[in-house]
Parts: sequence; structure tokens; C-alpha cells
Amino acid sequence: MSFPNIRLRRLRQSPAIRNMVREHNLKPSDFIAPLFIMEGENSTEEIPSMPDYFRYTLDVLDKELEELIGEGIQSVLLFVKVPDELKDNKGTEAVNDQGLMQRSVRFIKDHYPELLVMTDVALDPYSSYGHDGIVENEEILNDESVEVLAQMAVSHAKAGADVVAPSDMMDGRIGAMRKALDKAGFTNTGIMAYSAKYASSFYGPFRDALDSAPGFGDKRTYQMDPANTDEALREVELDIQEGADIVMVKPGIPYLDIVHAVKQNFNIPVSVYNVSGEYAMIKAAAEKGWLNEEEAMMESLLAFKRAGADLIATYFAKAASRLINSNQ
Ligand code: PBG
Repeated sequence: MSFPNIRLRRLRQSPAIRNMVREHNLKPSDFIAPLFIMEGENSTEEIPSMPDYFRYTLDVLDKELEELIGEGIQSVLLFVKVPDELKDNKGTEAVNDQGLMQRSVRFIKDHYPELLVMTDVALDPYSSYGHDGIVENEEILNDESVEVLAQMAVSHAKAGADVVAPSDMMDGRIGAMRKALDKAGFTNTGIMAYSAKYASSFYGPFRDALDSAPGFGDKRTYQMDPANTDEALREVELDIQEGADIVMVKPGIPYLDIVHAVKQNFNIPVSVYNVSGEYAMIKAAAEKGWLNEEEAMMESLLAFKRAGADLIATYFAKAASRLINSNQ
């Protein structure tokens, strides 16, 4: 049967019918809200390349946390900005149980125990070279880095992190972390693996936020080549074998095909990271009056669900949740 018997526009005639046949919906619990925390007191700094997004000192984080929770967001992903004098090539501050990350986790879990706290595990904010691992002769060492990353995960778990989120792309780190966590008694601490993380130009604004741009070279010897799909599936497969609970694809919009392929191939929760550059693009175009910000935001977030993502880490978490809640 075809036209004129079939008219697909029948199902598009009114908001009611469109709402009834809509295949995918966004809800606040789909979102993971990234938070940037810095040392100091009583201050909030807007990140220049991420309009309306801020770094907070821990003592003024309450308002933001209450707003996120008020909108129904259930999880946060923590990143810290580390002062230069605490950076080195060994991750000393990364494994400091009294470090800013560890203090932040304790603070949030003490005051908002219902909030799921995820922590970034990688050395770049702590590295004098701005790389995710330990550097020797301009090479990013794998196995030595994995050892420190595993200790870092344990330190976060001790502070109370619910889920650790390794974003470093070293080989074997998920297995090493799982083993270290279990050995330290943290069998219930989850791992959200940045499994298919590409060497992307869309991380630029984030590196401004944390002052973590690589001091030499780039990240192409550990992050993935944007040209590859098969390799992403191998990365995901290995991370699952090593014990990942959730796998992630990053960035988001330019890699929707990868999100889809991962969801089709594996039965595991898939998250996607709608990264800083994707946020900046929409914000910048909206500032110029070239895009409708809310519509562009919702359309891109919905695209992640359609591609197969279960969870979305996004700087739009609060704004999108607010919009979803106001439309109900
Ligand atoms: C660092 C890390 C990066 C992001 C999350 N964790 C940057 C990088 O790999 O250089 C990017 C997030 C974003 O751009 O929003 N390990």
C-alpha cells in the first residue's frame, strides 16, 4: 500500500498526535552534569569559551548543586583545576587523599548523599606537561601511568565516589582499576570508561576551563583517530572484558555513528559526552543570533537518545532539564 492510502502526515497533524507517536524523549535523569571546581574561597568564574558555565570554589558549590537536584538531575561528573605549583610528572596531587577532588567528593556525599558522584580519572589537570599520563622523553608511558591511575581511582573511592570515570585512554587501565578497587574493598564502586575517546579539536574550551592543554605535541598517541570505527568497537569490547560498568563515546555530535554502533553491538549502558566545543558552538551561534539556542540544544540532545545513548554528559544538563520540566 502506498499513497494516497498511506499519508504519514496524518501522524504529524497536532501536538497531541506528535506527542503520542514520539519515539524518544529526554528526561533530567538522562543527564550527567559536569562540574568544574577550583581552589580558593567564595568565588565563581565564568569560563570565557563556555558562556554561562562556571568554575566554583567548593564553599560556593551548594547553590549549583541545589539547582541541579531541583531540576531532577541525579549525577555530577567532577573535574578540578589544579594550581600550577601542585602539578608534576608523577600525579602526586592526583593521589592525595586531601586533594581538591577528594575534598569535593567528601563534601558532596556528606551534604547530598542521594547525588551520584562521578570523578574524572586522568593526569592532565595534574600534569606539568598537560598530558593524561606520565611523560618520559616526550613519550606518554602506558603501564607506569596505569599504576598511578589505579591509585587515583582508589583515592576517589575512599573519598566516597560512586563511579570513577577514566578519561585517559591508556591500555589496560580498566582492568587495573577494577583490581585495585576490589583489593581495597571498593567492590561497589562503578567504572564508567571513556572507551572510545577520540583525539578531538572539540575539547578546546575544556582545556581553557582547567588550564590543561598539552604543553608539547598532541594526544594522538593515546586518544583515537577520528577516522576509525572498528577500533572503537575493539576498545569498548576490551573495556567490558576488563570490567567497565558503563562505556562512553566522546565527543558526541560528530560521533553519533559510533554511539549507534556501540549500542547495537553490546548490551551495556552507553553514555555519550556532549563536549565543551559542541557547547561552545551552539552558544556562539546563538549569541550572534544565528541559531535558536534552546531548539538547537534540545535537538542535539535528542539526537543522542535516537543514536542509542542511555546517558548524556552535557554542559546543557541544567538548562535542558529546566526546559523539560517547564513543558510538563
Ligand atoms: C581529560 C579530559 C578532557 C575532557 C574530559 N576529560 C580533555 C582532553 O582529553 O584533553 C574533555 C571534555 C570536554 O571537552 O568537554 N582527560
